[in-house]
Amino acid sequence: MTAAKVTAPAAGPAAVAMTARRGGPLRGRLRAPGDKSISHRALILGALARGVTEVEGLLEGDDVKRTAQAMAAFGAGVERLGEGRWRIEGQGGFAEPADVIDCGNAGTGVRLIMGAAAGFDLAAGFTGDASLRGRPMNRVLRPLGEMGATWICRAGGRLPLTLKGGGLKRIAYVLPEPSAQVKSAVLLAGLHAEGGAEVIEPEATRDHTERMLRAFGAEVLVIEQGAGRRIVLPGGQALVGARVRVPGDPSSAAFPLVAALIVPGSEVTVEGMLLNPLRIGLLETLGDMGADLSVANVREEGGETVADVTARYSELTGVETPPERAPSMIDEYPILAVAAACASGPTVMRGIGEMRVKESDRIALMAAGLAACGVGVEEGPDSLTVVGSVRANHPVAGGAQVATHGDHRIAMSHLILGLAANAPVAVDEPGMIATSFPGFLPLMRSLGAEIEG
Ligand code: S3P
Repeated sequence: MTAAKVTAPAAGPAAVAMTARRGGPLRGRLRAPGDKSISHRALILGALARGVTEVEGLLEGDDVKRTAQAMAAFGAGVERLGEGRWRIEGQGGFAEPADVIDCGNAGTGVRLIMGAAAGFDLAAGFTGDASLRGRPMNRVLRPLGEMGATWICRAGGRLPLTLKGGGLKRIAYVLPEPSAQVKSAVLLAGLHAEGGAEVIEPEATRDHTERMLRAFGAEVLVIEQGAGRRIVLPGGQALVGARVRVPGDPSSAAFPLVAALIVPGSEVTVEGMLLNPLRIGLLETLGDMGADLSVANVREEGGETVADVTARYSELTGVETPPERAPSMIDEYPILAVAAACASGPTVMRGIGEMRVKESDRIALMAAGLAACGVGVEEGPDSLTVVGSVRANHPVAGGAQVATHGDHRIAMSHLILGLAANAPVAVDEPGMIATSFPGFLPLMRSLGAEIEG
C-alpha cells in the first residue's frame, strides 16, 4: 500500500494592502457603528434569557457575527430582521452545541461565552483565528475552575479548548488584572452557580454587563470601593428577554475624531456616541492635549448616556497619561499614539501592560509602525512614549508599509496617521478592520479621506 501524500493546503489570496495619503480637510457627520462590547452582551444575555430580545443598532462586524452564530449553536433562535436589527429567542439556558464554537478574532466573544456556558451541564469546544489562539484564556479559566468548571486546553491556557460546565458554586473573585472580560465571564457563570457570584475589581472597568443584567431583570449590587468596585450577583435569578438599543462605539468613533484633530482645517461630528464614564478616557486625554472637542445633544438611550461629539483640527501638546486611566481607554492607546505623533512634545502612556495581550502586542506594533513612519518612540514593559515633533507645516514623515499582524486597531490607527503624514502610509491586512468597524473605508471616504485599497 502506498501512503497518501499529505500536502499543505494552498495559501489563500495574498492580502491586498490599503494606503492612506494626505489630502484636503475632513468634514462631515457620521454615526459610529454599534458598540462592540454591548453588541456581544446583547446577544449572549438574549440567549441566556427566557423569551424574546430585540436588538437595534447591533454592530455587524465579524466578531459579533461569530457570537450570533455561537448563540444559535447553544440553542437560541437568532434572526436578523434588518440592518442592525436582530431578534433572539432565548431558551432560558444553553444546550450542548453539536460542533466546536469558532469565535474568530474575538477575545470578548470567547471569554464571555465560556463564562456563560460554564453554568450548564454540557461540554463545548472553543477555537478562534491565529491571533485568538495565541491569547491567554487562563485569566478566565482560573475563576471558572474555582467555581467548579473543568477543561482541557493547549499549553498556557490557549485555544482550542473544551470546557465542561455545570454544578458551579459561588465565588468571591478579586480580579488580578483590570479586565471587564474576566469580570463578565465570572458574573455570567454566576447566573447559574449556587449562591451567585461576587467580583471585586481594584480598578473599575467597563460596566456594560452589570447594566445589561439589570435591564434583563436581574438584581446586581454595585458597591464603590475607592477606585474600584464590588459587584454582587445574588444566586437563583432568571433573565427575561429585553429590548436593547446599542449606542455608537467610542472605540470606533476615536478614529474619525482623531483624524479630524490631526488633519488641518477638519471638522467631524460623530452622532450617538456612547459616553459611559468608564469608556471616555481618550476624550479626557485628548482634552488634556488641547484638542478642540465639543459634546452636544447629551441623552439617555437604553440605560447608557450618548451624545454627538465634534472634533476640530487642533495643535496638540504631548501629555502623560496616568495608569489609573488605562481601563477607560485600553483599546484607544493605538489611536492616541497617532495623535501623540502629531503633537508637539512627548506623550508618556503608563500602566498599559494589558495592551500586550490584545489582538496583537499593541505596544510593540505601535512602536514599530510609528518608528517606520519617522516618529520617535520608546517602548517599556508597560509603557509607551511617543515623541511628537510636529508643527502644522512639518508633519510626520510617513512613507512606510506597516505590519499589522491581523490587528484591526493597528491597521486603522496607521491609516489615520497616513491622512496627516508627508508621504502615504500603507497597512498589510486591511481585511481585519471588518472585525470591529465594517464601514470604516466608506465612512472615512465620505469625510474626504484619501484611502485606497
Ligand atoms: C472588552 C474589554 C476589554 C477590551 C475589549 C472589550 C469587553 O478587554 O479591550 O476590546 O467588552 O469587556 P479586557 O477585559 O481584556 O481588558
